[in-house]
Amino acid sequence: MTKKTSGPEAPNLLKPKGRERWATRMGVVLAMAANAIGIGNFLRFPVQCAQNGGGAFMIPYFIAFLLIGIPLMWIEWGIGRFGGKYGHGTTPGMFHYLWNHPLAKYVGAIGIFLPFGILIYYNYIVSWTLAYSAFSLTGKYFTVPSHGEMVNFLAAYQGKTQNIYFQDTTTACIFLFITIVLLTWVLSRGVVKGIEALSTWGVPVTFAIGALLVWRVLTLGTPDPAYPERNILNGLGFMWNPNFAALKNSKVWLAATGQIFFTLSVGFGCIQTYASYLSEKDDVVVSGLATVSTNEFSEVLIGGFIAIPVTVAYFGLVETQQIAQNGAFDLGFCAMPLIFQRLAGGQILGTLWFFLLFIAGLLSSIALAQPVMAFLQDEFKLNRKHAAFAVGGLCLFLSVPVVVFLKHGFLDEMDFWLGTLGVVLFAVIEIILFMWVFGARNAWKEIRKGADMKVPRFFFFTMRYVTPVYLIVLLGFWFSQDGIQVLLMKGVAAQHYPYVWFARFLMTALLVALLLLVHMAWQRKHRIQHRIPA
Ligand code: PHE
Repeated sequence: MTKKTSGPEAPNLLKPKGRERWATRMGVVLAMAANAIGIGNFLRFPVQCAQNGGGAFMIPYFIAFLLIGIPLMWIEWGIGRFGGKYGHGTTPGMFHYLWNHPLAKYVGAIGIFLPFGILIYYNYIVSWTLAYSAFSLTGKYFTVPSHGEMVNFLAAYQGKTQNIYFQDTTTACIFLFITIVLLTWVLSRGVVKGIEALSTWGVPVTFAIGALLVWRVLTLGTPDPAYPERNILNGLGFMWNPNFAALKNSKVWLAATGQIFFTLSVGFGCIQTYASYLSEKDDVVVSGLATVSTNEFSEVLIGGFIAIPVTVAYFGLVETQQIAQNGAFDLGFCAMPLIFQRLAGGQILGTLWFFLLFIAGLLSSIALAQPVMAFLQDEFKLNRKHAAFAVGGLCLFLSVPVVVFLKHGFLDEMDFWLGTLGVVLFAVIEIILFMWVFGARNAWKEIRKGADMKVPRFFFFTMRYVTPVYLIVLLGFWFSQDGIQVLLMKGVAAQHYPYVWFARFLMTALLVALLLLVHMAWQRKHRIQHRIPA
């Protein structure tokens, strides 16, 4: 028997009918850039860079960008446009056509599971930026006297403790609710009138605010003459002076690769969904490059020149080191507010800084929500408004444990499995399916279809061998260094165990639910194709 494995002639499901398409080429690139530009660019990147060798971090970062970031970006655009042709905006349908095997669709469920799981906590963080934008405008944190107190302010806002600033999470819940309502509203307006319209407006706004803040930071000089060493030049030096010794540490390489995944939104399933709204003849090569360039510009030249340098100028090297070690939230929500207290026009600048984070973050939340939207619309033929309400409602409901159990490490646990390990694992799976099962030549043809530029041959070899091998090695390292520790809950206080288990249970339940939905969707198609009454 000859076995037809895969390829474009794989079994036909339902023909695409009435799927939306991006309106303009500029719109696609801006929507994709808005997908990628997020809190990761302005808070996660500076912290990772400062903590992992400063300027030297850019070496593993750039290598990962070239060997993983760009290839995966093209692969995901390719897979997405390919799936869109058959009417599928999510990876179950896409994988079904890449790999003619009953399991393909279930493997593809991961590409909905990851973004939706991540949405639940990412969106909560986005809501903090909205709150802090409002607190800047009203001056709420302008009386908080010290860094220690600002940490308490944030902790009380998050419900980790109670104090004079906040007694419970009511305020946090209000801002979360507003954020989810906005998210639902944009989703309900659809791809062109919602996502594309907001991105066309939002990306330039983030660039404008970012440029203004960079200019303000670079012209700061020495804010306090009593501390001449606390100046902006030292700030830039702290962020960018290379410490090449750091390159001997494998953690630095892992961090750089992790940042590339996170910032470019690759490995999540989100790029594929956006690309499914392309038409068959649209270019993916130049557009994909335009997306990564826009993201890198905002990450390195804007994100890299605001938070860390300004913190050094106000707090000096020792304290900044400490803040960077505490992570992105300390930098963004504790150090930055104190700086706004001291800057002329700080209330306005603070409002703008957090608004920049909010717009960038909201557009990323939308990208995280769109796969499950597309799944409900494409596979269950839900109309857009109903799908948006379902997604918004579920997001609200599932946010409850994230809010209530934040102090027990619930968010961190989810972030490790989904946002750190999950995305790399998923990237390995999709690259094997596309470059090996579907076949390197088919894949290469798919990417180059309609391309406005020739892809250097170097990438053919890279996508086929280098990227998957690099990722598998990385995964091994990651698992042996961090994975086992996290799995066994090393370093987690005993009183947090039940919550960590609950986080794992919730993630498993979500995955099982999605597998069931995929199963139901395919049964439904089968019935429709063979005209079997339900
Ligand atoms: N790239 C986003 C950031 O830098 C995060 C994100 C990942 C958003 C995946 C959407 C999809 O913050």
